[in-house]
Amino acid sequence: MSAQAEIQQLDEMSKNQLVMMDSLEKIYPNGTIAVKDATLEVGEGEFLCFVGPSGCGKSTIFNMITGLTEPTDGKLAVLQTNPEEARKHNDIAFVFQEHTLLPWSNLLDNVMLPLKLRRVPKKQCIEEAERVLELVGLKEHMKSLPRQLSGGMKMRVSIARALVSRPKLLLMDEPFGALDEITRQTLQDELLDIWQKDKQMSVLFITHNVFEAVFLSTRVVVMTPRPGKIADIVDVPVAFPRHDEFRTTHEFSELVRTISLGLQH
Ligand SMILES: Nc1ncnc2c1ncn2[C@@H]1O[C@H](COP(=O)(O)OP(=O)(O)OP(=O)(O)O)[C@@H](O)[C@H]1O
Ligand SMILES: [Mg+2]
Repeated sequence: MSAQAEIQQLDEMSKNQLVMMDSLEKIYPNGTIAVKDATLEVGEGEFLCFVGPSGCGKSTIFNMITGLTEPTDGKLAVLQTNPEEARKHNDIAFVFQEHTLLPWSNLLDNVMLPLKLRRVPKKQCIEEAERVLELVGLKEHMKSLPRQLSGGMKMRVSIARALVSRPKLLLMDEPFGALDEITRQTLQDELLDIWQKDKQMSVLFITHNVFEAVFLSTRVVVMTPRPGKIADIVDVPVAFPRHDEFRTTHEFSELVRTISLGLQH
């Protein structure tokens, strides 16, 4: 992209816009059209879930936002700049389904790793790691090794490690997919609490589970089968904090229905 086009693109972004995609496209070198014509804006403090059939390009969109892969067409700005720059400023963090904890390091060391790599002074690393371990309810386990933890606890550590850099944008790719339903619901509640405490952080969250998407989101992005297009963006106009009763309301089932119908098109 030319420097002038880039400046123009940044001008188009309002101050509290964290992601701006305009007609974004990704065709892999083997000819697979993974994403086509995706247009979306994400503001500060939003919680967006992406739902769509397997292979519709959800992870590819995340990979473009984080600069791991380049779009083949369209415009993309992240945190008022290009994805590579945004990543360098440590304002983006990710959590994946598979935890990527170091097996030989205790929780404290695992969580402070991103800060250590940036040569943050040790005392500050420890303070920040303790802060986020407290946030996910694992401070008293900070000397444990990952293998001593349950699946849900390992996911909490991964979330803590993502939060330790105080990101503005948190990307989560099917983080709770491998957990049992009860643990999953507990983690959904905890994640919403954490997000509510930080009014500026926006979360982008991929899930196959429409119930999970409705419970968590301010908006749900519904994608079509490959080549992935955005079929619909559904508002979830329900205030936070959301309680478990929300899952039993008529409004909840109607939203699930709308999104499920959208997925069938
Ligand atoms: N590096 C790559 N090279 C070629 N094709 C790829 C590459 N990565 C992904 N694809 C293809 O692009 C399409 C979209 O993949 P992507 O991983 O983004 O889908 P997804 O929506 O995240 O799927 P899932 O829900 O199964 O995780 C798929 O057809 C996939 O095979
Ligand atoms: Mg994926």
